[in-house]
Amino acid sequence: MRFHAVSGSAARQRTDCAIVGLYESGALGSAAAQLDAALGGRLARLVKRGDLRGKAGETALLDVEGGPCRRVLVVGLGRKDGFDRRRYKKALLTAAAALAKSGARDAVSHLSQEPIEGTDAYYRGRLAAEAVGHALYRVPAIRSSRKPKEPALRSFGIAVPERDQKKDAERGLAHGRGIALGAALTRDLANLPANVCTPAYLGQQARELARGYRSVRAQVLGEPELKRLKMGSFLSVTNGTDEPARMIVLRYQGAAPRKAPVVLVGKGVTFDSGGISLKQPVGMDEMKFDMTGAASVFGAVKAAAEIGLPINIVGIVPACENMPSGHATKPGDIVRSMSGKTVEVINTDAEGRLILCDALTYARRFKPAVVVDIATLTGACVIALGAHLSAVMSNDDELAAEIEEAGRRAEDRVWHMPMGEEYHEQLKSNFADFTNSCGREGGAITAACFLAKFTEGLRWAHVDIAGTAYLTGSQKGSTGRPVPMLVDFLINR
Ligand code: BES
Ligand code: MN
Ligand code: ZN
Repeated sequence: MRFHAVSGSAARQRTDCAIVGLYESGALGSAAAQLDAALGGRLARLVKRGDLRGKAGETALLDVEGGPCRRVLVVGLGRKDGFDRRRYKKALLTAAAALAKSGARDAVSHLSQEPIEGTDAYYRGRLAAEAVGHALYRVPAIRSSRKPKEPALRSFGIAVPERDQKKDAERGLAHGRGIALGAALTRDLANLPANVCTPAYLGQQARELARGYRSVRAQVLGEPELKRLKMGSFLSVTNGTDEPARMIVLRYQGAAPRKAPVVLVGKGVTFDSGGISLKQPVGMDEMKFDMTGAASVFGAVKAAAEIGLPINIVGIVPACENMPSGHATKPGDIVRSMSGKTVEVINTDAEGRLILCDALTYARRFKPAVVVDIATLTGACVIALGAHLSAVMSNDDELAAEIEEAGRRAEDRVWHMPMGEEYHEQLKSNFADFTNSCGREGGAITAACFLAKFTEGLRWAHVDIAGTAYLTGSQKGSTGRPVPMLVDFLINR
């Protein structure tokens, strides 16, 4: 897909498909009015007759003659007041989905010319490229027949009111394209079934990613090395499976080598059955998505490499399966983490924190500027925030605010939740330094507190994406979140 910015009147913009907005009040967007003059007032007539209503989520594809374009896609924008970046992104997703079903090979969006609260040409471009990339994404089909039809769309332009905004818009489009490519990788990996996407497969994909970019290197550690590193906590999770574990290190170098890196740690449980603390059957298939944190680290590194961000990143991915068997870790077992701290495994289904704590200890060797871990860590987070926002917990309020702000700008939102001594008390053990699980109350927070015990002295934040990583039901599939937030965070460092 090629993205570009244009300026000038919609009435002179030659394209296969012009995308214009219509508000619920019946008011045509500014570009729609310009274009309508060239179309002899056809749009205004359709509005007057009640054929076009401008409700958010609605689209109409019109065949037009005589004007500068062959089609007009009218996108409902809803109420005019409060048209913000959330609604702008939604309108673009709707438009791009309709466009993908059409035969249009190129399109120019004029939605970017609407007054969008709290945004500029850069973000209008970025959100547009990201949304188009998102809507055109297709799941890698593993079907014997019925190959999904490829969208015809090859080129997408956005219109800006002033010529001198083109450069900013184009920079935004380039960043949005990078984010979309990163998110597509995340979605591909997360959508794959666990019998394909194993820890070894993730290791191969890391090498593949490194092959694609001179700025990226990959290193994959196997179980003998993990034993040598004394990662007893991580290894205790993989005990029950026949699938060998991996620890993947991705390094992106965009700045001088001595510059302290941002370390991203991603939970890579390629299937979470719960282990001996076995989960219920309903929805267990969704636990193939339990490696989305890892996949989002891959996606963020890919986006950084595409964009060419001037920073250093280290991605750390502990990858394993959590399965029950005669070799599996049992409730009550005590394991020794790489840090030396011991953990009483009350519940083998609280496995994410057991693999992350050793990865966080490993992160110290990179002398990070900050460490951010990303994980589908707790069902409690889904109860707290639903499928709309991710949670962030941190030992540094400024870092948490930075992440919240990145989520707002990228329209991939995150909510700051507390941590504190009261919550830490819940993890007390009679037999080891602490337990890995302590009941349901405040579950997202106590999970973060567990990780905090391994990040003393680091600037660290933990992002729980259990609710936002994937959709369930008929829409089942990876969302690509939180790649947009992560890349915004990296861009603004
Ligand atoms: N992978 C799950 C968390 C999860 C639940 C992600 C639902 C997405 C949707 C995690 O490993 C887990 O099982 N957590 C337990 C922790 C508990 C045993 C302390 C949970 O949330 O129930
Ligand atoms: Mn679990
Ligand atoms: Zn899990």
